[in-house]
Amino acid sequence: MPSLAGRHVLSIADFSRDEILHILATARDLAARPRRDLLQGRLMATLFFEPSTRTRLSFEAAMQTCGGGVIGFSDAASSSTKKGESLADTIRMVEQYADVIVMRHPRDGSARLASEVSRRPVINGGDGANQHPSQTFLDLFTIAGLFPALLEGAPLTLAFAGDLKYGRTVHSLLTALHHFPTVRVLTVAPRGLEMPEHHLAEAKAFGVTVTPCASLQEAVEEADVLYMTRLQEERFPDPLEFDHIKASYRITAAMLKSAKPALRILHPLPRVNEIAQDVDATVHAHYFQQAGNGIPVRQALVALVTGAC
Ligand code: CP
Repeated sequence: MPSLAGRHVLSIADFSRDEILHILATARDLAARPRRDLLQGRLMATLFFEPSTRTRLSFEAAMQTCGGGVIGFSDAASSSTKKGESLADTIRMVEQYADVIVMRHPRDGSARLASEVSRRPVINGGDGANQHPSQTFLDLFTIAGLFPALLEGAPLTLAFAGDLKYGRTVHSLLTALHHFPTVRVLTVAPRGLEMPEHHLAEAKAFGVTVTPCASLQEAVEEADVLYMTRLQEERFPDPLEFDHIKASYRITAAMLKSAKPALRILHPLPRVNEIAQDVDATVHAHYFQQAGNGIPVRQALVALVTGAC
């Protein structure tokens, strides 16, 4: 496997199947055998122009638990962006201070722009509605941990539910599934928030079958993995329509009675209303373990792109 040292992590589409499997294997090794000095002497900059809990904190925890250091900001208002500094100039400064840059930004394509002016690896922590590749690596790590036969070509049914139009995590994960065409994809989304056509066309070109479901209940009954996402209230022009629809995009423990015993529910989090609290105590809930997988996966990404392993 050629080294990933110096590579930017902008979109899951930039990675081959072999590279994805290598990153997952490195994360598995680090989860099994933690290496407390792996990133000693290295510094990460976390530039978060948008709110985050999991992505920023798990990148920082990943760095610190491997002996590295962290600088950065979690609020653009506390940076010189507030004074009008461009993103490109911000990156030109930060690349001189840190070995790797993790950035979240509201604009689609901002991570790629940052990579064009940075000699240090840039890891996209989410750019607008576009991509969230480190989330996708941890989603794949979680799914492969639950259903390891998938990596050998076993079939799996994965249902995406919620806002599939603007949710960058579902776009990234569907793109990754181009390398795993034995996954049958189901979708269930409110009218107007369906998966964009170009993502469906790309999936089809790679041999991934994507089928719309009539209801969330149907998805629950068919799926091995149900990937829930938040309905974004701000996207709905009519608040009354949102109130009506949000009730039909809510999983409850009662709905899971007819699910496959092995069904696991994932969610990139944060959740709002779409998963009732009573689901947390069922065997199907796996979203908090999924978030925990952010540590070994982000340790692996940082270690590989900085050339530490
Ligand atoms: N999954 C995810 O991106 O969560 P945060 O927005 O809290 O980082």
